[in-house]
Amino acid sequence: MHYPWWYVPHLTAPMLIAVVSVVHVLVSHYAVGGGLFLAVETGHAYRTRDREYLDYLHGHAAFFILLTVVFGAITGVGIWWTIGLSSPLATETLIRTFVFGWATEWVFFVIELVSAFIFLYYWGRLSENKHIAIGWIYATAAWISLVLITGITAFMLNSGRWAMDPAAQNFWSAFFNPQFIPQTVARTGGALLLGSLYVYLHTSIFIRGERLRNLIASRSARPALLGAIMIATGGVAWYLFLPEAAQATLVSSAVMNVFTGVLLSSTLVVLVMIILGPYLNPGWLSPGFAGLLCLFGVAAFAAGEFVREAIRKPYVIHNVVLSNQVLPEQVAELQKNGYLNGGVWPRAFIAERFPQVTADDRIDNKILLELPSKDRILVGEVIYQHHCNDCHAARLGYSAVGPLLQNRSREQVLATVLHLNDNYSMPPWCGTKEEAELLADYLTTIMLPRPAGIRPWEKSGSDSANEESGGKK
Ligand code: HEC
Repeated sequence: MHYPWWYVPHLTAPMLIAVVSVVHVLVSHYAVGGGLFLAVETGHAYRTRDREYLDYLHGHAAFFILLTVVFGAITGVGIWWTIGLSSPLATETLIRTFVFGWATEWVFFVIELVSAFIFLYYWGRLSENKHIAIGWIYATAAWISLVLITGITAFMLNSGRWAMDPAAQNFWSAFFNPQFIPQTVARTGGALLLGSLYVYLHTSIFIRGERLRNLIASRSARPALLGAIMIATGGVAWYLFLPEAAQATLVSSAVMNVFTGVLLSSTLVVLVMIILGPYLNPGWLSPGFAGLLCLFGVAAFAAGEFVREAIRKPYVIHNVVLSNQVLPEQVAELQKNGYLNGGVWPRAFIAERFPQVTADDRIDNKILLELPSKDRILVGEVIYQHHCNDCHAARLGYSAVGPLLQNRSREQVLATVLHLNDNYSMPPWCGTKEEAELLADYLTTIMLPRPAGIRPWEKSGSDSANEESGGKK
């Protein structure tokens, strides 16, 4: 807990990661699938002496580089920026564990950039074979980037043996985690599918001639179908290799049910549309059809990424870093000495505001409770911001705690806090009994009352229940 906290009201900081990473994923998968498309199809166009197709591919390469290199790189750096601010401890842990992987990834990233620029700017100036080879160097480097990043994001979802066995804590055991192969298969499939969908959209808008449009429609249908099969196979394996808690969240949380439904149904729609459209009837590829296809594809991707991000709770990195920037092995210590004492920044804040409760640079938990009510609420809010805000807004916003608590008595609020992990999506309570009291003080100020106009069953207890059944008889 040596990092400051980035407090993002209403939205919560991790939701910013979700937004940036979904945008990035939509481009980065095209960077792989579109690269394969360019390498394979440029080769085909050279072999069949199809000048018209070559001209189109030249234009597509320019569009491709603008989108993937410029926008993709900016959003990729955006992810670093956002995770560094909103999940600093997890970012630190990923850098420490995967330093070799990140370094390798940067090498391949440079290869990608150089080969992409050569492929575009030396168009027509290289021999055909050299030009195709450069296309394949790009496509291979882009795919290896995907594999490297997937090893790291897969680790966050299931760290496997790494977290359980200190003797096994090395780069390779982290990289080859249980989720590595399922996610690599699904993401490679995703790249093939999304690549084809973007190609369709671009083709349908920019190609007027029917011959070329039909040629591209039917040639790109097969990789798209292969991609869909790989997504389905990888998806099933992904589910089977999820930690048990993530599987339970997937079936028990309403939001996850809805998003999984969106993911499955959109994928099915895309599959049917590709078979009926480009595969069987290439002539159907109008801008409207391609746009709709892209829309369903994007919906499936966004829903899939959201589910993948959300089912890790209470961890940011499964079994390694908890969402509230605490390591599991620190919990007992924080429960004994206090959450505020464990954090550099909250301790400094309290020491400055309330010097009377600090001695020898430590906060005395007993004296905390003697603060006047107004100050107890303020300290409680500080604890809420650090302990709960990663997953909950306060009064209004993403999964806001105020409405969730709704009309509980102060004892019930206190019990919720002290037994936080009874709900396995939440971390254990990481503070002292006194700090829980202060947090309960704050939570009761943001708690919503029970909405009016609901039959007051509990209020009059068993009496009213008897009366009611009596009345009905
Ligand atoms: C790792 C994420 C995470 C953290 C941190 C977290 N929660 Fe939760 N909490 C959840 C999830 C997920 C749910 C289920 C919400 C839903 O279904 O919308 C939940 C539900 C709740 C609920 C309603 C259900 C219940 O069990 O009473 C309350 C109240 C609540 N949280 C309070 C808190 C408080 C107070 C803190 C901080 C001390 C906290 N949470 C920290 C993830 C978290």
